[in-house]
Amino acid sequence: MSGEDGPRNQKPPFQTPKGVHDILPGDHEYYTFIKKVVRHRLRQAGFRRISTPIFEFTEVFSRSIGDTSDIVSKEMYTFQDRKGRSLTLKPEGTAGVVRSYIQNGMQELPQPVELYYIEPHFRYDRPQKGRYRQFFQFGFEIIGESDPALDAQAIYLAHKILDDLGIAQLFTLQLNSIGCQTCRPQYMNILKDFYFGKERSLCADCKHRMEKNPLRLLDCKEEDCQILAQIAPKLADYLCAECKQFNEEVKEFLGELKLKYVENSSLVRGLDYYTRTVFEFWDKTDGAQNAIGGGGRYDGLIELMGGQPTPACGFAAGMERIIANMKREKIRVPRKDDLHVFVAQLGQVAKKKCLPLIVDLREAGIKTMGALGKGSIKTQMRLADKFKVPYTIIIGITEVREGTAIIRDMKVGTQKTVPFDETVTEVIKLIGEKNLDLYTPGEVLY
Ligand code: HAM
Repeated sequence: MSGEDGPRNQKPPFQTPKGVHDILPGDHEYYTFIKKVVRHRLRQAGFRRISTPIFEFTEVFSRSIGDTSDIVSKEMYTFQDRKGRSLTLKPEGTAGVVRSYIQNGMQELPQPVELYYIEPHFRYDRPQKGRYRQFFQFGFEIIGESDPALDAQAIYLAHKILDDLGIAQLFTLQLNSIGCQTCRPQYMNILKDFYFGKERSLCADCKHRMEKNPLRLLDCKEEDCQILAQIAPKLADYLCAECKQFNEEVKEFLGELKLKYVENSSLVRGLDYYTRTVFEFWDKTDGAQNAIGGGGRYDGLIELMGGQPTPACGFAAGMERIIANMKREKIRVPRKDDLHVFVAQLGQVAKKKCLPLIVDLREAGIKTMGALGKGSIKTQMRLADKFKVPYTIIIGITEVREGTAIIRDMKVGTQKTVPFDETVTEVIKLIGEKNLDLYTPGEVLY
């Protein structure tokens, strides 16, 4: 679109910063639909919604996600407030939820505490397809209990939501166990030994990772690093007996739920807080590149963040990636924004009659747009066409004098005159009661 008086083809002076975008009304229909599905599935399973602030003290993220992770070392939007305190826009949801669980004494509630969120997040990623600097995630966390059945249930819920959205078949479930504080350190040493002497084949990032967090070497997307990762010792061979047993049980429960999974020994995830179960949903064609979502167990995080030792697991998915896949699959979502009726009027007296009529139509659940400007009836009818309404109500001087209104069927091009007082009832008959947009704020409000 170009402004009226600016030269065409010239960029408007203000653009969104790189990597962020407006959510225009057409896309909001997808966001609304996803929110509905997420809320429905999670409410059914006993979850309640939580929103944590858009920004937190930087340490909430650096301590939980890990200083060596890509997110903390390269991707955070960190700034100082006016008193010099370091704050960060949230790059993910789990850290804030855990901070809130501890701060609000949720350990006193019946456990597990099940929470979900639908929020914008911020990462200073290199913008590309499916990778933005502001993106929406829905996610959920199950805090306060440790059982492989809970991991399986979390995975199943994630799958079920993708299924409800019509895209589950596009993804494979990748599953791994990354062990615990007992078995992982020993494996890290074995991994370091394996990479010793092979540093020259590693990318610059991985050279650094070798010092700080060798587990992440397995996750690198660079081709040479991947070749090495494939022949590196597997964590599965070094899991302690408890982790092995836990992992076996997760797989058994997934079997009970008839969920197919791929055992992927190099799946480690990009955040430091995980223990044991980790999982991701990978695009069947793009693989890890555009994972739609991921999660896992994080039994040490609540204690690390200053709470009592408390086990937990969870999942989050990227909503922009979900929408891109829904569009690719040509999945249509309900279009609740389409108007039912356009009200056109001619002259000041008719306009006065129209105002309360518009109010009555809307009260009755009829989505109504009124042309209350000064355009000719021809201009208003052209506008009605552009809004693609099925019906237009026309009130001119004659209709006011006779106490009537004209209802025009815009598709067929026919029109009929009805008594003014019966306009709302007539329109309801035409569009059908089940199509009305009625808002019921609840039976009793306290
Ligand atoms: P994550 O894998 O970092 O996990 O992010 C989850 C999903 O968010 C990704 O699979 C992707 O779909 C989406 N996402 C991430 N970064 C971007 C981006 N720059 N642009 C668009 N979409 C993106 C977490 O965030 C964990 N907190 C998940 C979790 C919850 N684990 C336990 N509980």
